[in-house]
Amino acid sequence: MGEEEVRKGLAGVVADYTAVSKVNPESNSLLYRGYPVQELAAHKSFEEVALLLWTGELPSEAELTSFEAFERANRALDSRVQAAIDLLPLDCHPMDVGRTAVSVLGAAHPLAEDSSPEAELDKAKSLFAQFPAVVAYDQRRRRGQGPVEPRVDLDYSANFLWMVFGEAAAPEVVDAFRVSMVLYAEHSFNASTFTARVITSTLSDLHSAVTGAIGALKGPLHGGANEAVMHTFDEIGIRADESREEAAARAKEWMEAALAAKKKVMGFGHRVYKHGDSRVPTMKAALERMVAHYGRPEMMGLYDGLEQAMDEAKAIKPNLDYPAGPTYHLMGFDTDMFTPIFIAARITGWTAHIMEQRAANALIRPLSAYNGVAERHLG
Ligand code: COA
Repeated sequence: MGEEEVRKGLAGVVADYTAVSKVNPESNSLLYRGYPVQELAAHKSFEEVALLLWTGELPSEAELTSFEAFERANRALDSRVQAAIDLLPLDCHPMDVGRTAVSVLGAAHPLAEDSSPEAELDKAKSLFAQFPAVVAYDQRRRRGQGPVEPRVDLDYSANFLWMVFGEAAAPEVVDAFRVSMVLYAEHSFNASTFTARVITSTLSDLHSAVTGAIGALKGPLHGGANEAVMHTFDEIGIRADESREEAAARAKEWMEAALAAKKKVMGFGHRVYKHGDSRVPTMKAALERMVAHYGRPEMMGLYDGLEQAMDEAKAIKPNLDYPAGPTYHLMGFDTDMFTPIFIAARITGWTAHIMEQRAANALIRPLSAYNGVAERHLG
């Protein structure tokens, strides 16, 4: 081992500047380009938030109208992507489908090798518009259903749900979905965003960076946690006829046993936030609205029971994936589609970081401290 200080997991390392978002773990706050994420989730469409992340400012009415028209005109599933997805087994993970789709979209994009700021923004907007159809097509094919054409009279969130379920979602469901997209959009130098920046730093292209980011997001220590939360709920057992209190009691017992067995429970804890995730109260409120909308109080009971037992035993707080998982479940998504939904949201943050990295690039290439065998020689 050399004299160097090794920072495992790069914990605590400040790797670069960013103007895209600011996470403040002390005040539990998250700002996108200076705006608190809670205010954006309360008042802005996902389309507006995307433009804010990319350009640094909220759009004027004309800019928003023009982007909405572009997004609506580019929603249809690309035939090459559809053909590629059809080659993939029905039992592969949907994250593999998302990763493949972005790779195909990159190869097919007319500006694939153009990394000028204009081309990058164009590619970011295209991906934003194109990805929901990938999630919808994949969810439906796994259920033996044919694709649903997009509807240009609906906004991004309403059309997303339309393409997945083939029926118009209630306004409160669309709103909860929009809130989740805004909250999932961006979170500074998390593992997938950093992956995207590393790839960009080699002067590779935007779609390659997003494809790599999807690989990082798939893991259960990162985006995959929203699915893992649902597996926990399933393991405890979801009983639709149970009261909130009964469900909470069962969930508490489950958590106590899990912690006694030294299990890591997904959906809790965070590398940066140590006193709670700034996004959770807003997402939990959206989950509460969905629980009321669908008349499923027992889901909130499971939520409360796990949260309380974890707090009492270890004072570890839930992260965004914890309320997001059950929200998507109530909306009708299959569990393994949750992380692909996260991709659709995070495409905005990733591409904002890719453009920022490109604008002031330095190859990301850390050092390592060698701890293998000492020098030796053949013979
Ligand atoms: N369940 C049980 N214990 C947990 C825990 C969890 N979800 N998260 C952290 N801990 C405990 C660890 O066991 C460790 O305890 P110890 O010191 O007694 O060994 C301590 O808290 C520190 O955890 P560590 O994993 O070292 O912290 P980290 O900063 O590296 O981890 C995460 C952050 C997110 C990787 C971690 O909290 C985790 O694995 N959470 C579950 C996955 C998840 O929800 N990911 C989504 C993140 S948005």
